Amino acid sequence: MMLNSMELPFKTRFKSPTQARRALPFRPLPASGMAKIFQSILNQPAQNPERLLYIHIPFCSKTCSFCIYNRYANLPEHIITSYVETIINQIRSAAKTPWVQSAPFKAVYFGGGTPTAIPSKDLVRIVDSINQYIPLANGCEITVESTISNISSSLVKSLAEAGVNRISLGVQTFDNTIRESLGRESNSETIATKIRTISQGGISNICIDLIYGLPNQTIESWTADLEMVQQLPITGCSVYPLVSKPNGQGTSTEIDIDLEYKLFAAAHTTLNSINGWQQLTPVQYGHSTNGKAIYVSGHGQNADMLALGAGAGGRINTHTYFTNPNVEEFLGCKANFAQTPKIMMSIDKEFLNLSKVFTLSEGLRLSKQNYQKLKGVFGSDFDYLKEQGLIFEINESLQLSPTGCFWAANISDVFAQRIGKVLQGDTANH
Ligand SMILES: C[S@@+](CC[C@H](N)C(=O)[O-])C[C@H]1O[C@@H](n2cnc3c(N)ncnc32)[C@H](O)[C@@H]1O
Ligand code: SF4
Repeated sequence: MMLNSMELPFKTRFKSPTQARRALPFRPLPASGMAKIFQSILNQPAQNPERLLYIHIPFCSKTCSFCIYNRYANLPEHIITSYVETIINQIRSAAKTPWVQSAPFKAVYFGGGTPTAIPSKDLVRIVDSINQYIPLANGCEITVESTISNISSSLVKSLAEAGVNRISLGVQTFDNTIRESLGRESNSETIATKIRTISQGGISNICIDLIYGLPNQTIESWTADLEMVQQLPITGCSVYPLVSKPNGQGTSTEIDIDLEYKLFAAAHTTLNSINGWQQLTPVQYGHSTNGKAIYVSGHGQNADMLALGAGAGGRINTHTYFTNPNVEEFLGCKANFAQTPKIMMSIDKEFLNLSKVFTLSEGLRLSKQNYQKLKGVFGSDFDYLKEQGLIFEINESLQLSPTGCFWAANISDVFAQRIGKVLQGDTANH
């Protein structure tokens, strides 16, 4: 695969999902009355059968300079204890609502931060309360994000016993020099040992995260990273481009687009060639059966998301909400889940149909049925993306090409802009 930098399909490459959907015409709801509106949504049964549960644990033993997530290190123990109690109380509070009880959740995801940075008995208590109060689908996938230095056989045993069946592990790179410069604990040898600890401890669905475009990363060091992936007992690998922090601080993200594309292409080719693996989303590859990632594919299928915890983002029907990222302020919401949104936005109902187009840019494919339905609105965008070689037609459906995966966030932005025009009544292009 080659990229002709003289003929790039977009001027700037978008790398984060928030950049990609920023053109959507969401209307912010006034702070006063927000809890009442949220409660009234939760009082209705679910409209979307695809439902995910996300729990944000914003703590880390040590923070990394490059990380863009809402996370805190070294908070006093009593804050963590109150946080765990608040999350459990909010699970109970959310579970009392008709929206939560009306359909089963297909996947649960503990993200962070580093959920395993809290004592394992507390994490297990949260998993137990989900099992007790929230309706979960048969074989529900329960994923916990973790970091190498937290992994021990006793942790894996307690998580497996509680019902956790998937671990998502931040590795970023196996290159010890780059790891050191990022302030990452553990070396490549320890990473391999800890991954075996997880697999032998009874959690066989293990996905690791790698980042490309890190300072001093070369095609050689990246190729070595990809070789390591092939040798480890893992079922999946997510590959992210390094994203800069909104305030420009942290790890430098200056990278030549040709090098960035070469790194992406090397990962795409190698990970697709692993026996039994396939591409799951523009950034994720995994074993087609053992590497099930219901949470990840649910995201790409526009699932509703019940999100709990400080700095979590969820969506229900036509509403999107964000909870307070400040832990102490978040703790002020105590047990009432309906009071947790700090920001809430809504969008026209028509969005629910139009947003199926994101199954192409965030999930790889637009089904034959949705392609037929959405052609009238997105026809000129599909034509442009086809001309650029970013998408192609196959069995009367649409699919992202490998180059399209590299530009996936820009493609989402094209769709978001079109949706914005349609919802605001500007249909001049059609
Ligand atoms: C919320 S973090 C949790 C990872 C886990 N705490 C760890 O450190 O191993 C999830 C993933 O986001 C990715 N990530 C964080 N900051 C990033 C950035 N600036 N650019 C790209 N990916 C990033 C990393 O791959 C990371 O593993
Ligand atoms: S990468 Fe993981 S450990 Fe590092 S700051 Fe982010 S969430 Fe914490």
